[in-house]
Amino acid sequence: MTARRKPGSLQATIRFVQEEESFVVRPAEPRDDAAIAVLVVEGFLDKFRPIFRSRMERSVKIMERWVDLEHSLGGVRSLVIENPDSAEVAASVGIRISSSDDDALARGLWKTLSSSLGFFHASWAVTLLSYPRYSAFSSEAYVERLVVDHYYRRQGMAQALLDRAESLARESGKATVGLHVSGRNLPALRLYEAYGYKEKSRQRSLLTGYFLGVRDWLYLQKEL
Ligand SMILES: CC(C)(COP(=O)(O)OP(=O)(O)OC[C@H]1O[C@@H](n2cnc3c(N)ncnc32)[C@H](O)[C@@H]1OP(=O)(O)O)[C@@H](O)C(=O)NCCC(=O)NCCS
Repeated sequence: MTARRKPGSLQATIRFVQEEESFVVRPAEPRDDAAIAVLVVEGFLDKFRPIFRSRMERSVKIMERWVDLEHSLGGVRSLVIENPDSAEVAASVGIRISSSDDDALARGLWKTLSSSLGFFHASWAVTLLSYPRYSAFSSEAYVERLVVDHYYRRQGMAQALLDRAESLARESGKATVGLHVSGRNLPALRLYEAYGYKEKSRQRSLLTGYFLGVRDWLYLQKEL
């Protein structure tokens, strides 16, 4: 697989030259949390804007804390792909493979949201962020927040991350991988279909339909 180089500011006016260069998936480290947060907020702007509204500038810090909590309490590991030149994180995914302390996770997230946004806005954010709902079970690994920087899309990075996530799931003895995707996210639906994920159920929410423009949340699953 190959990764294009992202032009730096000095090269901004120079026609971009594609170069053949391999990219590698590696486990995320704590120093990657901030970069993962930026990728996630940018990749899901259509969802985060209506949630954070006038406090959008606080969303990256909140997401960074959220990723940190997921790693420490949520049984989630993250994988990243780096641009080999700049060490910039170009893509990332989280995979839940161990049991999680859901109460502590919810308390930590609430503390972060309420201290950043205030009680009322935090309650609003939690309500919308609680979709789609998922109850983890021990034989399944759960993939979340798969995102590739706009610049690096259609180069196979999402496939490479899914490959590695599925390997981790197999090594951990899981029988299936599950994930949610919004019914109107066609690029992601195409990716998952091409990769053998099948729809198992769907949740419908008028609330997220109205405020986020996402009425249907599809639960997809792949047998390993
Ligand atoms: C969805 C997303 C992760 C795909 O990342 P990507 O690295 O561009 O995907 P890949 O290059 O690995 O694509 C693999 C296959 O998925 C399908 N696919 C990916 N993007 C597509 C698009 N925009 N339109 C149609 N099919 C697409 C294609 O079948 C593609 O194979 P091909 O390029 O040989 O045709 C990326 O668009 C993204 O980050 N979107 C925003 C965040 C998001 O929606 N994440 C999914 C959450 S459930």
